[in-house]
Amino acid sequence: MQLPGTERINEAGHLEIGGCDSLLLAERFETPLYVLDETSIREAASRYIHSFEAEGLPFQVLYASKALCTMAVLQIVHDEGCQFDVVSAGEIYTALAAGIEPNALYFHGNNKTAKELRYAIDTHVGHIVIDNLDELTRLQEILRQRETTMRVLLRVTPGVEAHTHEYVQTGQEDSKFGLDLLSGQAMAAAQRANEDPHLILDGLHCHIGSQIFTLASFELAIEKMAAFAARLQTELGIQIPWLNVGGGFGIRYTEEDRPFTPEAYVHAICQATRHAFTSRHMPVPGVMIEPGRAIVGPAGTTLYRVGVRKEIPGIRTYIAVDGGMGDNIRPALYQARYEALLANRAAEVPQERVSIAGRYCESGDMLVYDAFLPKVHVGDLVAITNTGAYTYSMASNYNRVPRPAMVLVKEGQADLIIERERLESLIAFDRVPQRLRSLSAINAVAG
Ligand SMILES: Cc1ncc(COP(=O)(O)O)c(C=O)c1O
Repeated sequence: MQLPGTERINEAGHLEIGGCDSLLLAERFETPLYVLDETSIREAASRYIHSFEAEGLPFQVLYASKALCTMAVLQIVHDEGCQFDVVSAGEIYTALAAGIEPNALYFHGNNKTAKELRYAIDTHVGHIVIDNLDELTRLQEILRQRETTMRVLLRVTPGVEAHTHEYVQTGQEDSKFGLDLLSGQAMAAAQRANEDPHLILDGLHCHIGSQIFTLASFELAIEKMAAFAARLQTELGIQIPWLNVGGGFGIRYTEEDRPFTPEAYVHAICQATRHAFTSRHMPVPGVMIEPGRAIVGPAGTTLYRVGVRKEIPGIRTYIAVDGGMGDNIRPALYQARYEALLANRAAEVPQERVSIAGRYCESGDMLVYDAFLPKVHVGDLVAITNTGAYTYSMASNYNRVPRPAMVLVKEGQADLIIERERLESLIAFDRVPQRLRSLSAINAVAG
């Protein structure tokens, strides 16, 4: 199995991440534990940035915070030169608390509330990415009341959906996101934005999918966006300074996944943009991308302790670990696949197929089916790799299980960046109405 980032098997036969022995991490911070490799995050972010520098077009790499939004992670990615795609007041708040300048934030979302829009304006967020006509109306109203201006991009659905190794050209995309081209919503929004002195139209945005392993899907989307930009120029006299082509760059969760390098993705996007605009005799816009998974996915590994081995002869061997869908919903939510290894006996030869089950009360709470591992015993430490993206950020307290801690490792040093939740945290927001108070007092005494 190919280990991501700085991971290796050390002399003791243990999985080592960022120079830290995973057994010692599990002992010190307990399990389940998210381990995040700082070097891997920095390398991924800087490779996207350097790839653009080599292309010579104006560019911005916006880290899609939804993949993993913690103050430490945002600071690391910022340090490498990224700006940010944020999708809620919570993500804006986290970024500001991390010391990110508000101008570096691009506020996305298909239903930003008036409260969130006001918050974004009042905290001087740099750009709002307008998703639909109702939001545009809401934003125009607030800006008029506030007597201020806002830089905006228009999110357009280009009618291209990328599905891993192929793309589907839908013409009119059936999506809750974005302004549709065929029905004229995108053109109407551009016209309204252009006429409103409170709005500065800085460009167009599209996002065509996730885990994209084909360059043609980006190229086709860019072609469609350029065709729309040409219409804006001829029909409304609008020139587009920026084209944001979204995220979705694939990573290698299992050996079947064959992602392109950051350099290849960026080169294809820049070439397609140059070609699509120059062939229409239009100035080439600056290019933005929004990688999330590709920056933090490979940097994450989750460590779990094995608590149960259940053999059903002729059917399956279940290995139950102390986490599951509460810390990683992706397998249950969309059959996402991962690779696993035994962190405490990482050098041993695999000899059995086992399925790794979570500890939550759902039959669908399975982390990995048919992992090929050395004989697994109760007490072993299981590592699931490539869990940096959309795990902690989608975590829940289902079954009232506290969410795990996250530790950042680099060159042998391990620092806690998310504390493990405590039992008290679980009831921190519970309120008991007065008429039930006597019961809770009795329980508190009993407890
Ligand atoms: C608008 C937008 N940009 C960027 C991303 C990040 O995608 P990924 O993490 O696959 O790169 C998403 C993911 O849903 C998105 O909706």
